[in-house]
Amino acid sequence: MYSSRIVYTGSYVPERIVTNDELSKIVDTNDEWISSRTGIKKRHVSEGENASDLATKTANAIIERGNINPLDIELIIVATVSSDYSTPSTACVVQANIGAKNAVAFDITAACSGFVYALSVADKFIKTGVYKNVMVIGTEVLSKLTDWTDRTTCVLFGDGSAGAFVERSESGGIIAEDIGSDGKKGMSLTVNHILASNVFNGMEKEAPSCINMDGKAVFQFATRQVPKSINKIIEETKISIDDIKYVVPHQANYRIIEVISRKTGIPMDKFYINIENYANTSSATIPIALDEMVQAGMLERGDKILITGFGGGLTWGSMLIEW
Ligand code: COA
Repeated sequence: MYSSRIVYTGSYVPERIVTNDELSKIVDTNDEWISSRTGIKKRHVSEGENASDLATKTANAIIERGNINPLDIELIIVATVSSDYSTPSTACVVQANIGAKNAVAFDITAACSGFVYALSVADKFIKTGVYKNVMVIGTEVLSKLTDWTDRTTCVLFGDGSAGAFVERSESGGIIAEDIGSDGKKGMSLTVNHILASNVFNGMEKEAPSCINMDGKAVFQFATRQVPKSINKIIEETKISIDDIKYVVPHQANYRIIEVISRKTGIPMDKFYINIENYANTSSATIPIALDEMVQAGMLERGDKILITGFGGGLTWGSMLIEW
């Protein structure tokens, strides 16, 4: 069986930065509350670019870095909860924008676990020999789905995009994974509920709703489920914590990461954390972190890293990767 290896990464975030102080001018909040409860200092916010624009810039960054001929790209998977349209998929828009006319393209929705889920799907297509390469992108413009009058949610999210080019290889790459879903808890984090109104049933057409979240329930879920998921991979692969160079967690809340560290016994200094600069960009947090680490020269071939995501669905997903 083949292996799937991440060979290039790329990212793009909108230029406009909104600090906690700026947010405190539109809702009743302050930098002290946001930083101490979440670790967030600022976020990038779109000035008009949509999810596909961000994803296209990410794809072009990857193409440039890898000197990839777009015609050679076989599959494009975009993970997003903030796509421009229900159809065409964001992946199809990206395919057209980058001229990858030989690729198959589709989106998947697994919220903040989206990048791990997309990587898992890419891995199956590669391992089974169907495709030799896959462009995997997480992209979000959450600012368009945010209720900017709700201080309990609007301070938490940001816009951004990043991705990875995955290729067939003989060894290494994705070694183990644990993905899961708990639909029973799904209502604790919803976005864009669209009612089944039509001309025959007399239901009022309402505007789709914004991000709606029971923060405490999601916090509890993440701090229970993610350590279990990581521990499962550690037990299955028998890898020692010393041999894990970095853990790259979904960046939702610094305190969630602290609990994960405590419950897994993996020291905090192994966790890559950049939440202060981006807030929670859902499916984009993990690939943004990976791209930053690559650019900073932190990852060498052969390093073992663990990525772990969790969020809407509710869903989770962890992977052990040999870089
Ligand atoms: N600024 C100032 N005060 C705020 C505030 C804000 N932005 N948001 C909420 N508050 C207030 C609340 O109204 C509450 O006031 P009260 O005690 O007078 O009622 C108080 O702060 C405490 O709120 P609480 O909800 O108990 O805070 P918390 O410590 O649970 O933190 C979250 C809230 C949202 C930061 C936390 O629950 C969390 O991070 N959950 C996970 C959410 C998440 O990451 N979701 C995405 C997952 S992918």
